[in-house]
Order: sequence, then C-alpha cells, then structure tokens
Amino acid sequence: MKNIETTVGIDKLAFFVPHYYVDMTDLAIARNVDPAKFHIGIGQDQMAVNPITQDIITFATSAADQILSPEDKKAVDMVIVATESSVDESKASAVVVHGLLGIQPFARSVEMKEACYAATAGLSLAHDFVALHPDRKVLVIATDIAKYGLKSGGEPTQGGGAVAMLISSHPAILALNADNVALTQDIYDFWRPTGQAYPSVDGKFSNSVYIDAFSQVWDEYCRRNDAHFADFSAIAFHTPYTKMGKKALLPKLETEPEAVQKHLMAQFESGIVYNRRVGNLYTGSLYLSLISLLENSEQLSAGDKIGLFSYGSGTVAEFFTATLVPGFEKHLRKTEHEALLNSRVKLSIEAYESMFEEKIDFNHNTKFADDAAYSIEEIKDNHRIYRQK
Ligand code: COA
Repeated sequence: MKNIETTVGIDKLAFFVPHYYVDMTDLAIARNVDPAKFHIGIGQDQMAVNPITQDIITFATSAADQILSPEDKKAVDMVIVATESSVDESKASAVVVHGLLGIQPFARSVEMKEACYAATAGLSLAHDFVALHPDRKVLVIATDIAKYGLKSGGEPTQGGGAVAMLISSHPAILALNADNVALTQDIYDFWRPTGQAYPSVDGKFSNSVYIDAFSQVWDEYCRRNDAHFADFSAIAFHTPYTKMGKKALLPKLETEPEAVQKHLMAQFESGIVYNRRVGNLYTGSLYLSLISLLENSEQLSAGDKIGLFSYGSGTVAEFFTATLVPGFEKHLRKTEHEALLNSRVKLSIEAYESMFEEKIDFNHNTKFADDAAYSIEEIKDNHRIYRQK
C-alpha cells in the first residue's frame, strides 16, 4: 500500500541524550546479575545518565536547536513540551524552552503529561493546528529523565533524553495520516504521586497491560481501516526497554506469513539500535525508536507506511500511521546522532551512583559549570538560570 494521505507531518527530527552513560555489563556485575539478563532478557547495552547541570529543559533545547532555522523560529506558533519529569508544578517548561530557543513571541507554549504517551497527543494537536494554519509550524518536544532508584527493580530500565519534531505542511520526512486509534484505561501499572522522588511501578503488570493495549488498538485500527500487517513497512514501538515492543509484536505476528514476520522483525531491530544505547526516554522513547528505524533500516523508501504504537502507563495507548515522503533520507541526521552517542563518557558504577544522588538545593544560590550547549548555570532566588554556550 503506497499512498500519501495528508501533507501535514514531521518536517525535521532530532534527538539529544546527555553526555554520560553506564555500560550494562558493568551495572549487572555491580548488582550481582548475569549480564545476559540486561543485554538479552531486557535488551539494553548502555544507559544514559544525566549530571545535575542537565534537566528536561536543557535536553529539549539541545534537541530542538539542531533542527530549527531562523525562518522556523519565526513560523512556530506553538511549543509543546511533553514530559513526566516536570521541573515545576506550575510554570510550563515549554515557556522556558520557547525563550531559550528564541521562538517568535506571539506563540503558545504548553507542557503536556500522560506518562510516556503525552508526546503523541502533542503530535496530534500539532497536526490539527497546522492543518488549519498551513503556513505556520509547531514544535513538539518529548523530554524526560527516567529514574527508578539505585538498586531498584526498574534500575536497568532508566535513561533520559529528548526528541524534537518540527511539524509543518509539506513535511520533508513523514506525512501523518490522521488515522489514530486511542485507548484510555484507568489502571495503576506505573505512577508517581506528587512529591514522590521515583515512580511506583508494577513492572510485570505494566508489561501485560502494554501487550494487551497494543493488541486492542491494533485490532481496532484494522477493523476501522481494513488494514493488515502486510500493509506496513515497519512498526515503531514505545520502548521503555527494547524487549518490551518485541513482546507485544511477536504474538500478533504468529498467524502472519513468514515473509511478513521476518520483514517486520528485521525492521523492529533497526528501530531499537539507538534505544539499546540510551535506555528509557519515557515519552520520547517511541520517537527515538522512529529515528533509529529511519536512520538504520536499509529497507525503507518513499511512500512506505510506518505504524507507531504509543503507550503511557496509567494508561493511554494509541496506534497511528505515517507515510515516508520522497527525499526523506536526505533530511535524516544519522551522522550527527551517531557522533553524539559515540562522544559520550562512560561512567564507572561509583561515578554513576554519585551523579544519580546529586540534588539541586533551591534554598541556596549556587553556580554550576558545564560545557554543554545548554546547561543549568545557576540556582538563584529559587529558580533555575540556564546558560546557552
Ligand atoms: N539471560 C537471558 N535472559 C534472562 C536472564 C539471563 N541470564 N535472566 C533473566 N532473563 C530474562 C527473563 O526471562 C525475562 O524475559 P521475559 O520478559 O521475556 O520473560 C527478562 O530477562 C526480565 O527478567 P525478569 O525476571 O522479569 O526481570 P525483573 O524482575 O528484574 O523485571 C522489568 C524486569 C523490566 C519488569 C523491571 O526492570 C521493571 O519493572 N522496569 C520498569 C518497567 C517499566 O518501565 N514499565 C512502565 C513503562 S511500559
């Protein structure tokens, strides 16, 4: 099936991850676990770790800065930041991001939350806005820090980073097909009451809710659209750890012809190359997987339809599709993304643990030093002051 249903979609796309990581073999040895459990059982090789001078705002600006031209900054009418790692209960991080990026002032800036799902709602909102205002653009950023606690069950599924997407009419990469099927269920599989440092999570239960949610939205999507797996060149999944999407896809493929199974599983592997090296980005995870797929698969061409499965605990799930536009490959950033991943510093477990425990004290004015493009420079009068290099 090769057709382009709409012309609103993702024009530019980039991710940012912090400059430090832990090797999962080191973590396994330190936690007295067989490394194969992390590399094969969970499917993670490295895990991003953020220093105290980096937060969801510096992640967001570092991702968006890579893709925005001066013309884009004049054309963006809405900045949507999706996160479940908010740094303020009141002021939206999008307002700070808007200012740091120098977006034109007559824009709307808002933060959205629903666990790992919110960026998908942001993308839909952006689509509808641009469909109504085709000469304007929307910046959607998914940015999070996934922390479960040292030596906790969720520790090997931590990570952090941001994905920035510029939505426009006549997109250069992907047309969004506006065929979304969403599912809301009031379930406690992963949640974080206000003020609680780390989430409460029932990992096994969350696995089964995720798998069931994919099954439900996929079946409903097929019913509404008379669709089949064979219509898709690839399906990208929300990837809190890379084994997760595989556990949802494999049972649904069981009755498919072998060629379809093989093709979609090979594409799945292309979609987790970056995620294996970064870990969990919460709401950015699906979109990191999308970038990984586009930049690492050699089996994609213009007109191909890609399915996307978004899942946020609590829960909201959504399945939707996008179509690759001609010339998409010229607008990917594989060289830059690989350079970012390869330039990171590997931490010892001791260094990771002490970085993990560092906390900002808002009661004392403090100055920091960080050489990154965007960082927290200072805590002053109970708020963060950012530095742009
Ligand atoms: N070699 C290879 N695989 C191994 C292994 C070894 N030596 N030891 C264990 N495994 C496999 C297990 O068989 C299991 O595979 P399966 O899931 O396919 O059955 C996998 O590794 C994990 O083992 P398990 O015993 O389930 O691990 P755990 O109790 O430590 O829990 C998570 C793992 C992922 C559930 C836990 O880290 C967690 O809760 N993370 C947070 C999940 C989350 O973010 N949920 C919300 C978002 S969707």
